[in-house]
Amino acid sequence: MIILKSRKEIERMRTACRIVAEVLEGLKSLVEPGISTYELELHASAEALKSNSKCAFRGYNNYPSSLCCSPNDQVVHGLPTKIPLKSGDIISLDFGIVYDGFYGDAAITLPVGDITDTAKELLAVTESSLYFAIENARPGNRLGDISFAVQSYVEGKGYSVVRDFVGHGIGRSLHEDPQIPNYGTAGKGVKLKTGMVLAIEPMINQNSHEVKLLKDNWTVVTCDGGLSAHFEHTVAITDHGPEILTRL
Ligand code: MF3
Ligand code: CO
Repeated sequence: MIILKSRKEIERMRTACRIVAEVLEGLKSLVEPGISTYELELHASAEALKSNSKCAFRGYNNYPSSLCCSPNDQVVHGLPTKIPLKSGDIISLDFGIVYDGFYGDAAITLPVGDITDTAKELLAVTESSLYFAIENARPGNRLGDISFAVQSYVEGKGYSVVRDFVGHGIGRSLHEDPQIPNYGTAGKGVKLKTGMVLAIEPMINQNSHEVKLLKDNWTVVTCDGGLSAHFEHTVAITDHGPEILTRL
């Protein structure tokens, strides 16, 4: 069941989402060769505490940290480590909090130092695919329009869309209906309505779309060792179209 949010509820979600955006913005300025994802995790959880919010991921299905840190071939749900990032890495950071009863969720993938042109292109294509998806999050469209926007653009650029993980509705729970695949058919699926709030999150691989779970039971990596990128925003559908709640 898709839970629609009132204008008032969306205002409350705006606060939660702004905190998420601010934390990610802070992390952006910290990411450089030499810093470990463990230090990023400490920063994110300290900032959440300062803003009186609760980290959404820690404890969720026993996930052990507040920030998902997924370098290079890690797709999602990577665990913070004390290994320093090095120039040439890419690092996906996924963060969520709950504040005033509502969740916010967003992710970015950042370059560490100097990265290859190939890696730069993967980041740019993945981020653009998120914005093409968001552009389709408007009343009267269908869910498949969002999915198709990602898939058609990404595959046109020669990259592949991860199938095993999807975006989601969000509100008083981190994960609500509907599930939002990043592949699909335009014009299909549920009708989008004012009041829906969606966490749209394309996960895009350089080579094959196939992924596997590591033995820690959390970290998802590409099967072929190729790079993977992830961008996510929490977006409200309004009469006027999409409103990105996790953008500063
Ligand atoms: N953005 C991811 C999601 O929506 C992060 C969840 S990590 C978890 O599923 F640890 F909470 F599962
Ligand atoms: Co999410």
